[in-house]
Amino acid sequence: MAGNITFTMIKPDAVGNGYTGKIINDFIEGGFSIRAMKYIHLTKDQAGAFYAVHKERPFYNDLVEFMTSGPIVAAVLEKDNAVTDFRTLIGATNPAEAAEGTIRNKYAKSIDANAVHGSDSDENAQIEASFFFSAIERF
Ligand code: CMP
Repeated sequence: MAGNITFTMIKPDAVGNGYTGKIINDFIEGGFSIRAMKYIHLTKDQAGAFYAVHKERPFYNDLVEFMTSGPIVAAVLEKDNAVTDFRTLIGATNPAEAAEGTIRNKYAKSIDANAVHGSDSDENAQIEASFFFSAIERF
């Protein structure tokens, strides 16, 4: 059965460009409710640990650098079929390939500065939500 939560970050490019409010509005208009949310400037160690799954990828160092270049907004969102529906709402990882009207199509500039993160599986949604929020913050 599909899970009902996903984890997202509004990335430094979108926060810095003043899109936080518009993007949160898109989450809500997309049918998601906010279960937890925090504004935080990640350290290199924190960003490196969050993206450890990509450690061997050629873009890892740039990714950590970018994700620590400014504050982010991290959130746990709830909806039936959350992971899949959220990935549809945000569009393809590369904004050049993101469908018209998706969040990355509207607010992202490049595959690095792609405005938002979204979990890619129910299992990772739980892991990522737990990375940022304690159990008590998610109720
Ligand atoms: P995100 O969903 O946060 O997960 C990993 C991030 O790495 C991804 O979004 C992109 O912003 C970034 N990235 C940079 N280059 C690539 C690439 N070639 N493939 C996938 N992700 C990439």
